[in-house]
Amino acid sequence: MAYASEPLKKRITIHTLLKRKKDQERFTCVALYDAPLAAMAEKTGVETILVGDSLGMTVLGYDSTLPVTMEHMLYHVEAVARGNQKSLIMGDMPFMTYATPEQALQNATRIMQAGAHMVKVEGGAWLASTITMLAERGIPVCAHIGLTPQSMHKLGGFRVQGRTEAQAATLLQDAQTLAQSGADILLLECVPSQLAKDITEAIEIPTIGIGAGRYTDAQVLVVNDILGLTPTPPKFSKNFLVEAKDIPGALTQYVEDVKAGIFPEAIHTFD
Ligand code: KIV
Repeated sequence: MAYASEPLKKRITIHTLLKRKKDQERFTCVALYDAPLAAMAEKTGVETILVGDSLGMTVLGYDSTLPVTMEHMLYHVEAVARGNQKSLIMGDMPFMTYATPEQALQNATRIMQAGAHMVKVEGGAWLASTITMLAERGIPVCAHIGLTPQSMHKLGGFRVQGRTEAQAATLLQDAQTLAQSGADILLLECVPSQLAKDITEAIEIPTIGIGAGRYTDAQVLVVNDILGLTPTPPKFSKNFLVEAKDIPGALTQYVEDVKAGIFPEAIHTFD
C-alpha cells in the first residue's frame, strides 16, 4: 500500500490517537526541541512531538538527562509550541521533578502552561497514584517504561530491559497498572520486540516504541538521529537524511516508512 506524508489538517488529540490504535493505523512521534523543526514536523504529518529531556545530550552538551532542569524544559516546550499548531506536544518531566504526587502536580502544571498537551514521566507501577492524580486534574500523561534514561545509574547503563521472563512479566504488569491508573500513552524504550507486541495487545491505550520493534502503535525517534547528527547512533535509530535531499525530505521519509511498516527493520530491533 502506498502512503504519502501530508501536512496535518487539524489538531491531533488523545482521541485521534486512540482511534488510530483501534483502526490499526500507525502514527509517528519525533523528539525535537525548537520552533523551526516543530513547524516542519507539522508540515510533514508528524502526529506527536516529544520535547524530550534528551535535549540535555542532543542540544545542551551534557552526557545524560540528569542535569536537565524545569527551566530548560519550559524554554524548549514554549519554542516548540510556538512553531506548531497541530501536533500533540508532549513535554518531559525532568529527573526528580515528580518524585512525589504533589511535586508532580506542581511541575506538570508549569509544563502544560508552557504549551504542552501532555506530560511524560519515567517509571513503573510506583507512578500509578501520581498518574491518577494528574489525570483527575485534567493533565494527560505518557508513561515511559523499559529503558528509562533517568534511572541509568540504577539500571547499570543504557541496557535493553525485559529480556528475562521475570523482567518481562514485571514490565507487562507495570504497563497494565499504568494504563489502568489513567495514562493516555505508554512509551516503550529498548525492550524485545515480542514483549512490546504483548504489551501493545494487552492495553487499550496507544504504545509508542523506540528500540521496541515494529509492533507498537507508533514509533518515536530523536530528530538528531533522523538527521545524522549523532556521532555514535544507537542501533535502533536510522539516519533518514542519507537518502533524502533535505530535512523535510528526511522527516517525510521517516513518516512514510513508519506508516508503511518499513521502519523499524530487524536490524533496529532487539530480541
Ligand atoms: O527524552 C527523550 O527524547 C525520550 C525519547 C528518546 C523516547 O525519552
